[in-house]
Amino acid sequence: MAASSRLISRLTLVTGGGSGIGRAVCQRFASEGASVVVADRNEESANQTLELLSRDHKGQGHLALGVDVSSKDSVEKLVTSIQFMCLSCFLAAPPSVCVNAAGITQDEFLLKMEEDEFDKVIEVNLKGTFLVTQAVSKALVSAGAVKGSIITVGSIVGKVGNIGQVNYSASKAGVEGLTRTAAKELSKFGIRCNCVLPGFITTPMTDKVPEKVIDKLTAVIPMGRMGEPAEVADACAFLASDDSRYITGISIEVAGGLFIG
Ligand SMILES: NC(=O)c1ccc[n+]([C@@H]2O[C@H](COP(=O)([O-])OP(=O)(O)OC[C@H]3O[C@@H](n4cnc5c(N)ncnc54)[C@H](O)[C@@H]3O)[C@@H](O)[C@H]2O)c1
Repeated sequence: MAASSRLISRLTLVTGGGSGIGRAVCQRFASEGASVVVADRNEESANQTLELLSRDHKGQGHLALGVDVSSKDSVEKLVTSIQFMCLSCFLAAPPSVCVNAAGITQDEFLLKMEEDEFDKVIEVNLKGTFLVTQAVSKALVSAGAVKGSIITVGSIVGKVGNIGQVNYSASKAGVEGLTRTAAKELSKFGIRCNCVLPGFITTPMTDKVPEKVIDKLTAVIPMGRMGEPAEVADACAFLASDDSRYITGISIEVAGGLFIG
């Protein structure tokens, strides 16, 4: 199928859709015909993404909703309201594609890190991915859906570690393990689960990194540059679509060759 029509009539949910990689995923999915629910803790930025989608991809019934992925209550409300609102506007079903792009960093050296700095990053990146994956898969299974694709966002840092990111690298290593286990458990329901592992991508998250650190990082990337959010979105669109129908439990590195050995 032509790439531009792979997601026609698919209801998709993107957490962290208000910024960076999540926003690029929303735009890519909409450009392939999907209806997109943009979910973010920052409702203003979710609405800005929605405005972009409504301007560029009209008539597909996009929505923006607030969510805190680290709260079970908030995630359950999100998934329930998507089904309720979608009943009255476009597709009467849970999202059959979900991308877990919400994430945070709170960097500090191991010897200085406070317990709450560790916990907060685990709560959003790892527990948030668990809560959203669980809520969406429960809804798909109850609805008797025949297929689903859940995409998690890990990081190359989860594989190799990174100075100052003991919390973040642990959360992202956890996301990969969660994804493989979810893939094993959910295959029998037609739900695939895969992970993308971005390297260093230009987004508001990496804007916080000092320029001299970015220069050092770029120097060790074989492709010689940071990645763009749209390049991660390309991998997500492949994993969301039927082009990857026999693929589950894998991780795709989108890292310009960083740390290939
Ligand atoms: N940028 C990179 O280099 C890079 C590399 C590897 C992995 N990642 C991962 O990609 C994902 C997207 O990162 P990004 O670079 O686009 O960052 P970003 O800061 O631009 O976007 C993250 C989004 O997540 C939202 N968010 C944060 N906490 C939330 C919560 N509790 N509930 C709901 N939404 C919440 C933020 O409001 C923001 O809109 C993250 O999981 C990040 O860890 C990024």
